[in-house]
Amino acid sequence: MIKLRCEWVRAVPAIAIIGGTGVYDPELLEGVTEETVATDYGAAAVACGTYRGKEVAFLSRHGAGHSVPPHLVNYRANIMALKKIGVRSILATAAVGSLNPRMKPGDFVFVDQFLDFTKGRQQTFFDGGPEGVVHVDLTEPYCPELREILVRAAQALHLPAHGGGTYVCTEGPRFETPAEIKMLRHLGGDLVGMTGVPEVVLAREAEICYAAVAMVTNFAAGIAGYRLSHQEVVGMMKVQGENIRRLLMQAVEWIGTDRTCACQHAVSGPVEV
Ligand code: HPA
Repeated sequence: MIKLRCEWVRAVPAIAIIGGTGVYDPELLEGVTEETVATDYGAAAVACGTYRGKEVAFLSRHGAGHSVPPHLVNYRANIMALKKIGVRSILATAAVGSLNPRMKPGDFVFVDQFLDFTKGRQQTFFDGGPEGVVHVDLTEPYCPELREILVRAAQALHLPAHGGGTYVCTEGPRFETPAEIKMLRHLGGDLVGMTGVPEVVLAREAEICYAAVAMVTNFAAGIAGYRLSHQEVVGMMKVQGENIRRLLMQAVEWIGTDRTCACQHAVSGPVEV
């Protein structure tokens, strides 16, 4: 078997950044090597490097040049590839529209719940057969420890941020109608995006801690009072690029080796002592 150069059996903690819209390269990492990691679900391109001595992987969710739309992202290959190289914590960026007047364009939201409105995406690694059937608990879908680190990082950097919020995942690639946004607001949604699910679910099945770094790029359809465009979303991500990088790197610095959260036992159950 060929050993991948970025297979981190020795170095813990291993951290990955999944870059969404507008976050396409592993700037700030040193000694970057690019790998194609093969998995049972397909291959994923991963860049591996270090930040202040810590091993960090970077995976671009939409591929080079934003060539893969949200409904066609191979979420299973991406998460399994990160699992395979030894990643234990994921910080995933996401551009989102806001349904909540308190969450404004330019604000960070460290999401703590989701509503799933996707259609027909592969949601699990456990399709029966040799893998069996698993009904994973999602009482706390996002890792509370990573979320806490992000909240502290945003405070330290004086960035506008919210420590929780409900993310609605739509199928895309179209934006929503104002009627849909009105409904999603009634259901308790704060933010809307197209990629957060099933990524967060698969990370939990893989027993990897996962936190979403949502950046509000716009008010959602019908609230904004004008037509939405992908250019507007990318434009805001560009403007916020430096803040996103500073936040991610501060969080990377503070992610430690000790985990007391339940993410690591999500499928296997806690180890008896
Ligand atoms: N809707 C869905 N996805 C998005 C939006 C939106 O308004 N903004 C950024 N990603």
